[in-house]
Amino acid sequence: MQIILRQFGDCNIRRAEPSDLIPVMEINLKTLPEHYSDYFYESLLAEIPEAFIIAEIGEKHVGYIMCKTEYGFSNFKKLGFVKKGHVVSIAVLDEYRKKGIGKALVEESVNGVKLKNCDEFYLEVRCSNNDAVRLYEKLGFMIRQQLNAYYRDGEDAYLMAIELN
Ligand code: ACO
Ligand code: ZN
Repeated sequence: MQIILRQFGDCNIRRAEPSDLIPVMEINLKTLPEHYSDYFYESLLAEIPEAFIIAEIGEKHVGYIMCKTEYGFSNFKKLGFVKKGHVVSIAVLDEYRKKGIGKALVEESVNGVKLKNCDEFYLEVRCSNNDAVRLYEKLGFMIRQQLNAYYRDGEDAYLMAIELN
């Protein structure tokens, strides 16, 4: 059953289903240099469907966010061991950017990882990716670390995180 999380204009934001994975992979191929195996997409959808969310306009998939959960050291508290949501990947097709779809995807994934009782939510982003860094900062994520040569091409990442209550 499709669960529509929000609608604005002609855009629906809803949880992904198995039949959405091929269109999600196609958006990923068009928009990002980091790609994953089919199995990885399937495993994220199976693990945390609450935070695997797509944006759709009519029948067309225009954006997605997908996440996982982990246990690990807090990005905020010294010596704290916490449950963390982790944004694996988010993208919106170029022609559909700057309409609020990215913000809606992140906000709905925050709700999704809260349903899984995560204490924190984090992601890595290229230091040069101003559009994405600005989006995350507006939504309350803070730069907590710079990860040296995190990407295959040698670029650094910012680790950005937010505390959830
Ligand atoms: N009219 C005009 N501007 C608007 C409107 C509107 N109706 N709605 C939102 N905006 C503005 C926002 O205020 C924001 O402005 P700012 O950049 O000046 O702060 C800007 O549009 C972007 O916000 P959104 O529309 O919510 O985000 P968008 O849908 O454009 O998606 C994203 C952002 C996902 C980063 C997109 O640029 C993208 O797909 N980039 C390529 C892939 C990528 O880099 N992904 C992130 C990698 S890191 C990771 O995956 C963890
Ligand atoms: Zn990551």
